[in-house]
Amino acid sequence: MTVPEIADEQGESQSDSFYYNAEFYDIYTSKYMIDPTDTRIYFDQLRASHRQPIVLDVATGTGRIIKGLIEHATQVGHDWSQTTLIGLDNSAPMLDRARKSILAPKAGNLTWMLGSAFELEAALTGMPLPVSAVDLLILSFGTITHFTVAGQGQQFFNQVAKVLRPGSGRAAVSFYRSFEKTGQPVRLPGPADTGRIPSQQRPGITYQEVLLETNTLDDVYKESRQITVRDHDTVLEQNVVTTECGLWTEEMVKRMTDVAGLRGLYQVVLPTELIWVFERS
Ligand SMILES: C[S@@+](CC[C@H](N)C(=O)[O-])C[C@H]1O[C@@H](n2cnc3c(N)ncnc32)[C@H](O)[C@@H]1O
Repeated sequence: MTVPEIADEQGESQSDSFYYNAEFYDIYTSKYMIDPTDTRIYFDQLRASHRQPIVLDVATGTGRIIKGLIEHATQVGHDWSQTTLIGLDNSAPMLDRARKSILAPKAGNLTWMLGSAFELEAALTGMPLPVSAVDLLILSFGTITHFTVAGQGQQFFNQVAKVLRPGSGRAAVSFYRSFEKTGQPVRLPGPADTGRIPSQQRPGITYQEVLLETNTLDDVYKESRQITVRDHDTVLEQNVVTTECGLWTEEMVKRMTDVAGLRGLYQVVLPTELIWVFERS
């Protein structure tokens, strides 16, 4: 049977990735996973940064952080006229949702970019900006934990060191606290079965996520979940999505950042995340 694709907008359904369906990602993470106070932390860093700041939100997803920065700025009448905001992600459906739902701040400059966290220098080369000029680089919501292939964490930090403005640029990188390696069992938040969750943009459509299996091997936690999309009682799509999260320790992070030429300045501790702020050493 051919079923209509429910993957977001121009994106393709990618059964191995949670990020093929940006609407469900937003609903699920805001219900079960996100600490929304993080955007305030990043906004305070933005205010403390360069007078004409360039902000690069790496793995921006549906643009939650950029949206939060714009909301905080609007609340306090922050002047955007000299600010450049860049949201970069490697998932077209996520970026498409960001582009459609978030408007550029008045007089500010907002760009959405399809690109990789491991090739930041190359991505910025296409912009009318000096490459080493990022004043605030953000990798939020513990996304670094998904860089599980050997060498990817190092590659990311090497790129951070290349694009930050020497002297004053800051990188704020979030680590999910429950994935710190302590010897205790780990799990992603959320129920084993979400039940049917209604779509907010497609009447009659529901999403249901059911946990299938978990395991932790060689410091990588792996979780498979089945996501079923229905139109009333008709199943439109059923995909198995596997998420991998690497366990981390402070020692590992210090080693990678030392090699990259980054220095840890301070950490902000939230209930579920640790946001670690670095500069070029
Ligand atoms: C957990 S979401 C975080 C979204 C957003 N930053 C937030 O805080 O809500 C992770 C995002 O990272 C993106 N991503 C994963 N690996 C990436 C990579 N190597 N380069 C760029 N984006 C990546 C995914 O497409 C997804 O949108």
